[in-house]
Amino acid sequence: ERGAAGSATAVAHPNIALIKYWGKRDEGLVLPWTSSLSMTLDVFPTTTRVRLESGSGHDTVALNGVPATGETLRRVTAFLQLVRERAGSGRRAVVETHNTVPTGAGLASSASGFAALAVAAAAVYGLGLDAGGLSRLARRGSGSASRSVFGGFAVWHAGADTGTAAEADLGSYAEPVPAADLDPALVVAVVDAGPKTVSSREAMRRTVDTSPLFGPWAVSGKDDLAEMRAALRRGDIDAVGEIAERNALGMHATMLAARPAVRYLSPATVTVLDSVLRLRRDGIAAYATMDAGPNVKVLCRRADAERVAGAVRDAVPGGTVLVAGPGPGARLLGEGA
Ligand code: PMV
Repeated sequence: ERGAAGSATAVAHPNIALIKYWGKRDEGLVLPWTSSLSMTLDVFPTTTRVRLESGSGHDTVALNGVPATGETLRRVTAFLQLVRERAGSGRRAVVETHNTVPTGAGLASSASGFAALAVAAAAVYGLGLDAGGLSRLARRGSGSASRSVFGGFAVWHAGADTGTAAEADLGSYAEPVPAADLDPALVVAVVDAGPKTVSSREAMRRTVDTSPLFGPWAVSGKDDLAEMRAALRRGDIDAVGEIAERNALGMHATMLAARPAVRYLSPATVTVLDSVLRLRRDGIAAYATMDAGPNVKVLCRRADAERVAGAVRDAVPGGTVLVAGPGPGARLLGEGA
């Protein structure tokens, strides 16, 4: 093993997609059907420490101090196995991760989680990856994690769907997106912090396999992405918001048309969407996006964020509402013995 340290600790933040990733063309390699674009947040960091133990045996994983089991343990172990194969290492790992966001609630816990794990594991096993390489690696843990390697706005390239598997893997990574100074905020409305009933993995599979709306949405997403990039370049928050909102509603439409339907949106979601419409009617630039859960993220100007948060709080009195801004990319906090 090249320069393997005893332990490494990394921190990463979640990201929220303004152009969504929904559907894999290769489940094993986590290659998406479409390119996506996101904003990394400055809230809800995940901090992950990976320590190598001598000898083989099982990896152990603790999430907020609680030993992970089942699907979480299986996913983390499979990810570490990939890193070990690349490093030519057989050493087992002890992983301790601290998440400040509810897990599995459509709040991008897997994005910050696998971005932090990728950075820490790559360091401790001595993979010597650049940012693009870390993004490709993080992608294998969770697609959206590829984008959390970068701060601010990031685009995840789907990559060409011709060529060998190795070429496809190389072509699918995230990178920063040039943007004029938008001074954006995302008002996050947590209307339900409980774990989702259908995993995004299963929901994507069902959508791709059965939804008659998936193809058209994926096609229109190409235009959405091009228009989004242009809107970010000129700093046009209304255009950014409009494109993000229609792309997200379209994604949910594909799921609603799946057989059987996948519905993450709840009555509270719709109540928040109504409050966003009222804000727009009052002349405030506010636009909504939703992921694999009922929670709503409202894009607006920083200067309007408190007003937007107030309106959303009034709409869902039981919910938790917080204001996020653009956050930093994943980074190594330290390496130790
Ligand atoms: O990275 P995953 O497998 O958790 O998928 C996330 C998909 C969405 O959050 C719904 C959209 C996205 O692009 O982040």
